Amino acid sequence: MWGGRFAEGPSAVMRAINASIPFDKQMWAQDIAGSKAHVAMLAAQGIVSAEDAATITDGLEEVAADYAANGVPEDLALEDIHMLTEARLAERIGPVAGRLHTARSRNDQVATDFKLWVRDAIDQTIAALGAFQDALIARADEHADAVMPGFTHLQSAQPVTLGHHLMAYHDMIARDRGRFSDARARLNLCPLGSAALAGTGFLLDRDATAATLGFDAPTTNSLDAVSDRDFAIEYLTAASQCALHLSRLAEEFVLWASQPFGFVALSDQWSTGSSIMPQKRNPDAAELVRGHSGRIIGLATGLMITMKGLPLAYSKDMQDDKPPVFEAHGLLALSIAAMTGMVESATFRTERMRGVAEAGFATATDLADWLVREGGIPFREAHHITGRAVARAEALGCKLDQVPLADLQAIDARIDDRVYGVLTVDASVASRTSFGGTAPVRVRAAIAAARRMREEE
Ligand code: ARG
Repeated sequence: MWGGRFAEGPSAVMRAINASIPFDKQMWAQDIAGSKAHVAMLAAQGIVSAEDAATITDGLEEVAADYAANGVPEDLALEDIHMLTEARLAERIGPVAGRLHTARSRNDQVATDFKLWVRDAIDQTIAALGAFQDALIARADEHADAVMPGFTHLQSAQPVTLGHHLMAYHDMIARDRGRFSDARARLNLCPLGSAALAGTGFLLDRDATAATLGFDAPTTNSLDAVSDRDFAIEYLTAASQCALHLSRLAEEFVLWASQPFGFVALSDQWSTGSSIMPQKRNPDAAELVRGHSGRIIGLATGLMITMKGLPLAYSKDMQDDKPPVFEAHGLLALSIAAMTGMVESATFRTERMRGVAEAGFATATDLADWLVREGGIPFREAHHITGRAVARAEALGCKLDQVPLADLQAIDARIDDRVYGVLTVDASVASRTSFGGTAPVRVRAAIAAARRMREEE
């Protein structure tokens, strides 16, 4: 394609290091769409004849059908998907294929193709995350008043409900989806027509190609358009943040599925056995979601480092933009699907969760709050009294709501038997009615709001 000024062909290693076809063949459909939009515009502007444009369009459709049926051949000599497609087109329609590249460079072509690919990836990710939210909402609804220990420092802190805990992840995923759609909105300007770097003297209609390809408008600076990879980095950073959330839930599943916790039993479909220890049910999928998040973050970091020192405009380093995005998208899609499956099919051991919540003196704050409310005692003093009550329960080997009244009154005479009304875990969660709190009425309201949001999408 560019051999005019060369006497010799590239060495085998040069070919190998230069070729992107092994990975950019994934963008073949975007490349065909971009070319069709470009040639239609060239014809409308009278830059190529209507007849040539029709020949080129038909030819591109044949090449696309061939790719779809037989796959994209990895011909290293043709470097990349753009040159391969043009070569295939020329095989079919002859020299007229050469008119397609008028007023276009691979630099604006690749930026356009890649944006189209990332836009699809964003759309798929947003949809997959929506299905994950649905799974979280459904399980949260089922367990809106199932009491479990809430933790800080991984120590029993205050009772919460399992529904509340699951809805916490729903909210994280809502933010992740927001980040993806923000990135999509910023991405959605079309580089086509920027040509190699400086624009072109041909009278293009950039608005037309932008509209045909579903972009909101053309990009506004040709230098920026061909050297911008923000959209890829934004995809990767949004993916990193999302993977990080999935990893936290995965970690909780690993922890909860362990014998000392016993909070969850993963279904057979989402567990693996051990080849030596017959009793094992390992949470491998959760562990891999946790592991994949590290890889995704690494891929985001890698592309930022690739880009950070590049002068304007295009440099070949930028060809390295695609593998991290393709890989991260694959890893993220698997991770979302795996977490969705695990959430949908897990058996939550709610009796065990309740038992642990009751054993951990998790209603101590409720006792302190009661002393403040009913006894008019300053919170700091109430905290101290409660600490002594907890110590007493520990000494007696019982739950906080099982400490005899006489023992409590020996600690502070202002305590009376109404206190038992706040010491159960159910009373504790029911009392947390502040907006966003764990009271089952609040959790159900949050679930209803989340469902409305999903319906309104
Ligand atoms: N394969 C290249 C890439 O992915 C296409 C752009 C090549 N442009 C160039 N001037 N060599 O970045």
